[in-house]
Amino acid sequence: MCGIIGYTGKDIAVPILLGGLERLEYRGYDSAGVALLEGDKLFIKKRAGKIRELVRSLWGKPLKGKTGIGHVRWATHGEPTEDNAHPHTDSKGEFAVVHNGIIENYLEIRKELEEEGIKLSSDTDTEVIAHLISKFYKGDLLEAVLEAVKRLSGAFAFAVISSKEPGRIVGVKEGSPLIVGIGEGENFLASDIPAILPYTKKIIPLNDGEVADVSPEGVNIYDFSGNPITKEIMIVPWDLISAEKGGFKHFMLKEIYEQPKAVGDTLKGFVSKESVLPIDLREFRRLIIVACGTSYHAALIGKVWIERFVNIPVEVIYASEFKYGHTPLSPDDIVMGISQSGETADTKFSLQSVKEKGVKTIALVNVVGSSIDRESDFSIYTHAGPEIGVAATKTFSAQLAALYSLAAFYSMEREALFKKVSSVPMKIEKALEGAEHIEVISEKYMKAKDFLYLGRYLNYPVALEGALKLKEISYIHAEGYPAGEMKHGPIALIDENMPVVCVAPKDRVYEKMLSNIEEVRARKGKVISIGFEGDGTLKELSTEFIEVPSVEEELTPFTTTLPTQLIAYFIASKLGLDVDQPRNLAKTVTVE
Ligand code: AGP
Repeated sequence: MCGIIGYTGKDIAVPILLGGLERLEYRGYDSAGVALLEGDKLFIKKRAGKIRELVRSLWGKPLKGKTGIGHVRWATHGEPTEDNAHPHTDSKGEFAVVHNGIIENYLEIRKELEEEGIKLSSDTDTEVIAHLISKFYKGDLLEAVLEAVKRLSGAFAFAVISSKEPGRIVGVKEGSPLIVGIGEGENFLASDIPAILPYTKKIIPLNDGEVADVSPEGVNIYDFSGNPITKEIMIVPWDLISAEKGGFKHFMLKEIYEQPKAVGDTLKGFVSKESVLPIDLREFRRLIIVACGTSYHAALIGKVWIERFVNIPVEVIYASEFKYGHTPLSPDDIVMGISQSGETADTKFSLQSVKEKGVKTIALVNVVGSSIDRESDFSIYTHAGPEIGVAATKTFSAQLAALYSLAAFYSMEREALFKKVSSVPMKIEKALEGAEHIEVISEKYMKAKDFLYLGRYLNYPVALEGALKLKEISYIHAEGYPAGEMKHGPIALIDENMPVVCVAPKDRVYEKMLSNIEEVRARKGKVISIGFEGDGTLKELSTEFIEVPSVEEELTPFTTTLPTQLIAYFIASKLGLDVDQPRNLAKTVTVE
């Protein structure tokens, strides 16, 4: 949902801003722009399209400015045109703003500004911020920003520079993510850590209601009333290599192959007790999990594990449905938000609404210091490293590792369950050896218009996740369904053109799955099955058979997920699509 970066320091800003924007491009990629302080003037360049268009437009320009801001956009208000691209300026071109989020009352402010004779030049909600700051400016950028912020409602993060105050950037956070990076003789602002990782690992994540006043000499943080705030510097545990492609064609493929490590590292967090919660989950009447997309699918699997091993009821609710719903809550309940980014607006606002009712919250996030992490009562972490591909892969497996460990930890069979799961990273590695075979199968079916994904029990959410992966990166319509529900309607869709991915490891519902597969065969559907190695019966029933190593039934999602990720990856890649930055999507969804 848009990425912003700011740099002020000893070096020429433009390569730092462009490099940072490239690492933020996963957040939005329909237009990009930079604003630089060149002497006492603002230089602005923006382009519709991907960041390479912006880079091309800057070739050969002798830009020397050492302070600047940049933006990659995921359009909310106004089409992805050059006019609507950020940065936006006031009428005199003295203030430039980059923004992530939504100014909900922008129409009202826009009307007011127009009545005052100000001409706005874009359809965005952002532009009003630049005009407001210009209007309130009386010689101090910070004061003007604080005044402007009083007029804004919504969830937003923005950064502003002015030709009147070279070397200074003011950044504001209210609802959307913003971090400060601390360097030597240089400082940064960014939506996310990878943007500034080549320059510093020292960061200060801002909280909502905070403003950072950034110059090469230092950073001061204030609340919205202008009171100074002392904040601690965090050291990021990631290195730059983990945020680069490392020889793989796409981040997604690299991240698929990083799953043994992501799972292993996450499990270690529990074994070393670092991830153990200071509460006893068993003392609560019910666990409610709120999450979106892939994290929601991980939650569905976690529900089965926690109910089976800990024996407390678990409800899983889409975060986007939870906040405005009527789920009765009591202090005996505890609510967990799962989010790899830790910034998803739906999840964050759901947890905030829970806290307002005095109910305790747990965050399960991949990004330490993210909003959901900071705002929850307790946190546990996945250790997947930065995930850049828009389609979540390694963070999903890491979420499974965390949820399984949580269930194991509170179970009577703690030791045995931890022992069992310790072989999973190796099993994942083994499952990845089937990639070549999966590539061949993917090529055969890449022209299909629709796919069905079927599974039962622990592998029903795997089917949902497989279908989501295919939809988001290949743009092929796909539906995940509980296999047993198929006969209640979707079976009508099956004909000889329909590939049906059937997730059928040898678990308690294996026989039932075989019957469901027979039903698909009887309607001439093409069965692409995912099952245990050496399963001759399943192979016999299938048009295509994908083997994964056999594991105990409770561990099956760790291995059955991999072929579904690879099918989506190979199909999208063979169709020549932009696997890492699929259309209309953004990695971190910071709007409701
Ligand atoms: C996953 O492939 C998707 N891109 C998306 O559904 C994602 O899982 C969802 O937006 C939730 O993100 P989060 O885990 O960062 O909260």
